[in-house]
Amino acid sequence: MASWDGKCVLITGASSGIGAALAEHLARRGAAVGLTARREDRLRELVERIRHAGGRAEFATADVTDPDQILAACGALEQALGPCDVLIANAGVARPTPGERFTAADANLVLSTNVLGVVNSVAAVLPGMVERRRGHLVAIASIAAMMGLPNSGAYSASKAAVVTLMESLRVDLYRKKVKVTTVCPGFIDTPLLDGYPREVLPTMMSAERAAGIIARAIERGRGKVWFPFRTWALARIARALPFCLYRRVCERLPKHNYQPPGDG
Ligand SMILES: NC(=O)c1ccc[n+]([C@@H]2O[C@H](COP(=O)([O-])OP(=O)(O)OC[C@H]3O[C@@H](n4cnc5c(N)ncnc54)[C@H](OP(=O)(O)O)[C@@H]3O)[C@@H](O)[C@H]2O)c1
Repeated sequence: MASWDGKCVLITGASSGIGAALAEHLARRGAAVGLTARREDRLRELVERIRHAGGRAEFATADVTDPDQILAACGALEQALGPCDVLIANAGVARPTPGERFTAADANLVLSTNVLGVVNSVAAVLPGMVERRRGHLVAIASIAAMMGLPNSGAYSASKAAVVTLMESLRVDLYRKKVKVTTVCPGFIDTPLLDGYPREVLPTMMSAERAAGIIARAIERGRGKVWFPFRTWALARIARALPFCLYRRVCERLPKHNYQPPGDG
């Protein structure tokens, strides 16, 4: 993509963290940004900030786990800003799902938001892109997709599913002129990491810096991007270890202080 000028970019999970940073970054670069998430006050504030800085932005609330809500939100945003050129399916949650306290409720929340949320968002804009023979689908997965991280089975599985889904779509849509990019970040300093001991997490990056890297990957039409390099390299090494060593490494990793409701 040569320039963001006048491009209509829809971003899910735009009320916080990476999504909000992407919205501000791309609006500064000339894109018209359509923002969606559940928290209306956050979206309204962000839209006002972007407009105040001279950018073009609209918002529509939706829960990504509900296909009708996200379809309606994308429809309203396209009505206001024009046909979607780029979708960034970014909404996601992280919740520990430790093996010894594994609950269907926690795993369902993570899988439905992170996997079905991407599915519902893609399904909302893709028919239009295919018809126009133009468009770019972007999903935010994670380096966690590379392996089953301890206490995060549902999260790792959800991100691996997103990587695989987008890989298939990239092949299917190649001849339809719809591009597909999967973004796999390491640790990014956002509210998603609340409850983790931030000071010991490797190579933490700001959401603003991550937004710049993601924008560049989209501009270059990259199929997949993993960053930061050091976290990716550590994950590659960890993935190659035999189970007995992998388990020992995992046991040393910092733990989330999450307590499920009602856990004394
Ligand atoms: N931070 C990291 O270290 C990291 C690393 C790798 C990948 N990621 C991925 O990056 C993406 C963005 O995360 P973040 O770090 O920016 O976290 P964040 O600050 O917690 O933002 C998550 C966003 O997702 C939205 N969201 C959550 N559930 C939703 C739902 N059911 N419907 C609609 N929107 C929903 C939230 O908005 P509302 O609550 O207002 O709905 C919020 O805007 C996620 O997919 C995450 O897995 C993050």
